[in-house]
Amino acid sequence: MEFEDVVSTRRSVHEYSDEPIDRDTLDAVFEAATLAPSGYNLQPWEFLALRAPEKKQALREVAFDQEHVTAADTAVVVLGNTDPTAHAEPVFDDWLAKGYIPNEEVRDALLENVDGIGAQPVDERRIWTTRSTSLAAMTLMYAAWDHGIASCPMEGFDPEALVETFDVPDGYEPVMLVTLGYPAEDAADVENERKARRPVDEVVHYDEFEPVAETPLDEPAE
Ligand SMILES: Cc1cc2nc3c(=O)[nH]c(=O)nc-3n(C[C@H](O)[C@H](O)[C@H](O)COP(=O)(O)O)c2cc1C
Repeated sequence: MEFEDVVSTRRSVHEYSDEPIDRDTLDAVFEAATLAPSGYNLQPWEFLALRAPEKKQALREVAFDQEHVTAADTAVVVLGNTDPTAHAEPVFDDWLAKGYIPNEEVRDALLENVDGIGAQPVDERRIWTTRSTSLAAMTLMYAAWDHGIASCPMEGFDPEALVETFDVPDGYEPVMLVTLGYPAEDAADVENERKARRPVDEVVHYDEFEPVAETPLDEPAE
């Protein structure tokens, strides 16, 4: 699919067909997700991909009984590591080996910067990990749709119950759920009118932030 088509035809889908996603395709979609950018390339994301019916049912129970969790082939818990230092050494060694940084002093300075982020209060680090991990979640959804696999991002879940149910170790933020599955007939039909978006000239501010009067969604600005 052309990138523009991937973006313009993606929809959050609740109804899925029974067609299974084969594992190689799923792996390719996850691989694409890992190409997302991240702060210092620290890649704090991890994906708990639930495919077994009883696992998806357990997730649904901590996701306010949202039916698409079990209807989808795979329900993904997108996790963000709140420890920025977790993968810092190999990441900066890679930068050094590939010439992105000139020497070991710079590498050590970068490691110190990351230690500084790691010393921040946990609420700051939760924001830190959510930034990069959300980009991976979006990349996952676009990569999936490029393979004809529909998705739905979800914040409707109880994070504490989720962590307990799936024994997620301390230090991981459940950032989002993403359902993945081939859409049921008509569920992702581009003929379905897209949910309205706020107009571009209301949300984009060139050079300075000047609030713009809100335009009703059904009357887009000229
Ligand atoms: C952060 C976030 C949380 C969301 N949470 C839920 C959710 O819990 N359940 C759900 O069915 N959809 C959820 N959605 C999907 C939105 O309702 C959907 O993206 C929005 O209505 C726009 O529709 P579209 O994605 O089809 O363009 C969420 C989307 C985002 C980005």
